[in-house]
Amino acid sequence: MTAKRALITGITGQDGSYLAEFLLSEGYEVFGLVRRSSTINYERIAHIQDDIHLISGDILDQTSLQKALITSRPEEVYNLAAQSFVQTSWQQAVFTGDVTAIGVTRLLDAIMTVNRDIRFYQASSSEMFGKVVESPQKETTPFYPRSPYGVAKVYGHWITVNYRESYNLHATSGILFNHESPRRGLEFVTRKVTYHAAKIKLGLANKLPLGNLDAKRDWGFAGDYVRAMWLMLQQDTPDDYVVSTGKTHTVQNLVECAFGCVGLNWQDYVYQDPNFMRPAEVDLLIGDSSKAKDQLGWEPQVQFEQLIEMMVEADLKLLQDAHNLP
Ligand code: NAP
Ligand code: GDD
Repeated sequence: MTAKRALITGITGQDGSYLAEFLLSEGYEVFGLVRRSSTINYERIAHIQDDIHLISGDILDQTSLQKALITSRPEEVYNLAAQSFVQTSWQQAVFTGDVTAIGVTRLLDAIMTVNRDIRFYQASSSEMFGKVVESPQKETTPFYPRSPYGVAKVYGHWITVNYRESYNLHATSGILFNHESPRRGLEFVTRKVTYHAAKIKLGLANKLPLGNLDAKRDWGFAGDYVRAMWLMLQQDTPDDYVVSTGKTHTVQNLVECAFGCVGLNWQDYVYQDPNFMRPAEVDLLIGDSSKAKDQLGWEPQVQFEQLIEMMVEADLKLLQDAHNLP
């Protein structure tokens, strides 16, 4: 039997790297779309680079998407490419819309042109729930986005639903709550905190500026969440699914946990910096993923405390290696 083929946009990102690893372990031939930059940024996929195929392209460039589909001939396409940092979406609102919203339509149109049998996954987000109208949030909860990023993701979600209903595409939207890992970008709050806790412990820094400590998030492990993406595309019928842990913690809980891992009192180092406050905040996210549990058999394996400990340990090792510390 020939291997299944999958194309991942955003393969150089956190989720792209875990999904590529997972699909390889399932026997897939994996293709990844990578955009041109003056410096190569393949750190997250360096360890599997010989096992995957990278194709040059950009979610902003329609022709490159069509060519990528023609070259890779995938059965499954996972659209993870996005300007994914909420804070930046206020500084670059139009760009965020072009990449994170219209990019989805470009890819769906490319699928329509090249092969309508391709199964499509859209990386939707709990940011779409924004100023939440009910808790916990589930597939039927109305959206109320609070950032240009959240607005762009609402567009991406609905265009996916619309192409499914208009053209009968196997197009699925995974509404994923925050998920983290040692590969998380340094600008996101979990990694910023675990990295700084490790730095302070090793005597390489002595303070950590943060924004809103009261925001609550439903944080899970990225390795668990990419498995849910794949399970969604194995279903006979495309649909929408919430993926979450069902537990919520404040940013302060996160800080306490990370500094606790290295035996430090967070209050000696953390201070509030208005630069990290947002023009509009998402105060509370907590997801109900019972549909994913019932229909996909998916459940998270890694708990919040384990996740933060894993990230702190990885950051300690990273910094010790980089600075030649015992
Ligand atoms: P990430 O680490 O920021 O990765 C984003 C990826 O998109 C990178 O590979 C990036 O490439 C690529 N990309 C950006 N602009 C592009 C363009 N114009 N053309 C092609 N590729 C482009 O994000 P992530 O955490 O892995 O998240 C993956 C997806 O899930 C995103 O769509 C995100 O919005 C969504 N999501 C994430 C979470 C979460 O908690 N992580 C939750 C819900 C939804 P470069 O490396 O070249 O920048
Ligand atoms: N980044 C950051 N930096 N966030 C901070 C800081 C800080 O110094 N201080 C407090 N926060 C608060 C933010 O205001 C927000 O309420 C929360 O920490 C989480 O921020 P991020 O880690 O940047 O993630 P996010 O929730 O805005 O967005 C992430 O999750 C979404 C899913 O809900 C991203 O991965 C999005 O791409 C994803 O869709």
